[in-house]
Amino acid sequence: MQLFDVYPLFGLEPVSGKGSYVYDKNGQAYLDFYGGHAVISIGHSHPHFVKRLQEQAAKLVFYSNSVQNPLQQALAQKLGALSGCEEYQLFLCNSGAEANENALKLASFHNGRTKVITFKGAFHGRTSAAVNITDNPKIVAPINRNYEAEFHEWNDLESVRTSLAKGDVAAVIIEGIQGIGGIHVPEPAFLEEVANLCRSQDTVLILDEIQSGYGRSGSFFAYQYTNVVPDLITVAKGMGNGFPIGGVLIHPRFEAKYGLLGTTFGGNHLACAAGLAVLEVLESEQLIPHAKQLGEQLMVELRDFSAVKEVRGHGLMIGMSMDFPIKPLRKQLLFEQHVFTGSSADPHTLRLLPPLNITEQEAEQFLSGLKTGLQQYHQTAKI
Ligand SMILES: Cc1ncc(COP(=O)(O)O)c(C=O)c1O
Repeated sequence: MQLFDVYPLFGLEPVSGKGSYVYDKNGQAYLDFYGGHAVISIGHSHPHFVKRLQEQAAKLVFYSNSVQNPLQQALAQKLGALSGCEEYQLFLCNSGAEANENALKLASFHNGRTKVITFKGAFHGRTSAAVNITDNPKIVAPINRNYEAEFHEWNDLESVRTSLAKGDVAAVIIEGIQGIGGIHVPEPAFLEEVANLCRSQDTVLILDEIQSGYGRSGSFFAYQYTNVVPDLITVAKGMGNGFPIGGVLIHPRFEAKYGLLGTTFGGNHLACAAGLAVLEVLESEQLIPHAKQLGEQLMVELRDFSAVKEVRGHGLMIGMSMDFPIKPLRKQLLFEQHVFTGSSADPHTLRLLPPLNITEQEAEQFLSGLKTGLQQYHQTAKI
């Protein structure tokens, strides 16, 4: 059987990983400033993570959601304590798209409406309801266009206000920091007023923290740079450091009912062990303040590069907008400097999403690789 060929692949095969590096079969190290797509939060094969998974796998990998699983409770408690969202309730699932799918269902169950406000450049996943509010018509199939999705300009309060005033919007969904769109931070006053307007219309505010959450922004959640209290917060990616796990944090004003949501695999024993290991390491190694401090330092240094037009982001979620399309530079960085970086929907923006425990030396290595990469890029461009 052949694989269904949907991914354009780099000619590269990582076979192991440790900390901020992955290694190919020849032992060549690659500095991971992409975090395997914002997924690696505590570093590749962190020893505590590996130990937790090994021990749990040897005990019990899975049993269905029809029995007691104290690991779920432990995960919810630890997540509440570290994020400052103690009063929220947690529903566990397996991916980001699934988290958003469940959040949209909760919103629609709550107020009986179907219209959703989303934003230009948004990415919320590829499942049926989630892809309909993703700003990429190429990945939306006719079967997904089954409710009204309104795409507004980023930070455009007046257009959101006018739409919400009609009183027919089920949910507003917004990324804590827009990721795939090119790293755009919402203006705090915009987000705060959207939250107020949602409350006044009984519209549900969903904060998609799938990419920006779990400490990546230097705060547990990126929206925590504002005074917003979201109704629902969706998480995945960094939550499992590579183990598939996602979740919806649900404000206490939403009441659970048996059968309202459900999943076979969500919250399984092994996933919970992975989720707990991540939180334990974030706490014991103080990775969130570290991400904040190192990210700020890195952004200052990046602004000094002459080809850089703008540096956006918070913590270790950084977008570098260049004065040329970044595709060849990104390839150059990977194959010549052995550094992984991310692209975005904006052809000029390089996305940096390293593990939260990168060291200052690794940040320096990235900066010097970037310097050489840029020199080489400009030399090649001149020829
Ligand atoms: C902000 C955001 N939401 C949702 C998703 C979808 O997550 P998943 O690929 O785990 O379904 C992504 C994935 O990149 C994302 O960046």
